[in-house]
Amino acid sequence: MKHIYFAPLQGYTDDVYRRIHNRMVGNVEKYYTPFVRVEVGSIRSKDTRDISPANNKGVPVVPQIIFNSRKEFEYLTNRVKELGYTAIDLNMGCPFPLQAKHKRGSGILPYPETVSDIIEGIKGHSDINFSVKMRLGWQDNSEALKIIDLLNTIELEHITVHPRTGIQQYKGDIDIEGFQKIYEASRNPIVYNGDILTIDDICSIEEKFPDIKGIMIGRGLLGCPSLAAEYHNGKLWSKAERIALMLDMHSGLMEEYSKILKGDTQLHNKMRTFWEYSEELLTRKPYKKVMKSGNLKNYLSAVAELRHIY
Ligand SMILES: Cc1cc2nc3c(=O)[nH]c(=O)nc-3n(C[C@H](O)[C@H](O)[C@H](O)COP(=O)(O)O)c2cc1C
Repeated sequence: MKHIYFAPLQGYTDDVYRRIHNRMVGNVEKYYTPFVRVEVGSIRSKDTRDISPANNKGVPVVPQIIFNSRKEFEYLTNRVKELGYTAIDLNMGCPFPLQAKHKRGSGILPYPETVSDIIEGIKGHSDINFSVKMRLGWQDNSEALKIIDLLNTIELEHITVHPRTGIQQYKGDIDIEGFQKIYEASRNPIVYNGDILTIDDICSIEEKFPDIKGIMIGRGLLGCPSLAAEYHNGKLWSKAERIALMLDMHSGLMEEYSKILKGDTQLHNKMRTFWEYSEELLTRKPYKKVMKSGNLKNYLSAVAELRHIY
């Protein structure tokens, strides 16, 4: 059995979502937070709330940081450390042009000299278990191999690899051969990430790469939150059971978000995102009804109808 990690998804897997998922179904080894970054010299208050220990009680969380220099790396590492964390994930994979064009996320991969400087920084924080999340490159899938050579000089918790380049964003074919090269070249444990939607997908990666440490899943877990539990317990859930879990999570999220969001429009927008990756599970018509509900009242009645579809 491999470890299953919940991928960070900005706008989806916030502290509220992680608490509810962990409480209602869990079976996830670690939840990685969406990246924390420096904005006008400090951490955004939204990010501070997301990683504050009070909001993550009992949840196995690893904060993720994104940076383009040793200075940003040190600033963020020290802020996260002050909160009492002993593990930090380093984002070298984000493809969002706004970050990447400033050398953050996958935008750092063409700059081995900056990564070398970060590695010096990592060596100065022996009390922190660092992990890295990366892609095959920004433009070109040979970039990651140079970075892996550098990362081979230190000990990391693991390196999660999403086998696409930054310019591919989240679309286009996964480059499994590119992944294989990193899997073979890395002295650090490797975690696979990308396009895992079913137990069969998990098993096929396990079979191809028996030495991987684990599998990180993002959209597949959003669309079917019981996926890790089904894998660990060796038993597929029925559609009715999967939807029942989502409905329970929906109720928990509604309760929590209505305390912190202002007004029906904000609450409706937030709640809609919860179902975004569940078209396969809900089937097209009920899914469209939820996604195109237009306001909170229609949304709640579309969700209520889901109770009767299976
Ligand atoms: C909307 C969205 C937000 C994301 N936010 C982050 C993030 O904050 N940090 C990060 O490392 N990856 C982020 N990712 C990438 C995911 O963690 C993951 O690598 C990607 O979705 C591929 O895995 P999947 O196919 O299992 O979803 C994001 C992806 C999406 C679609």
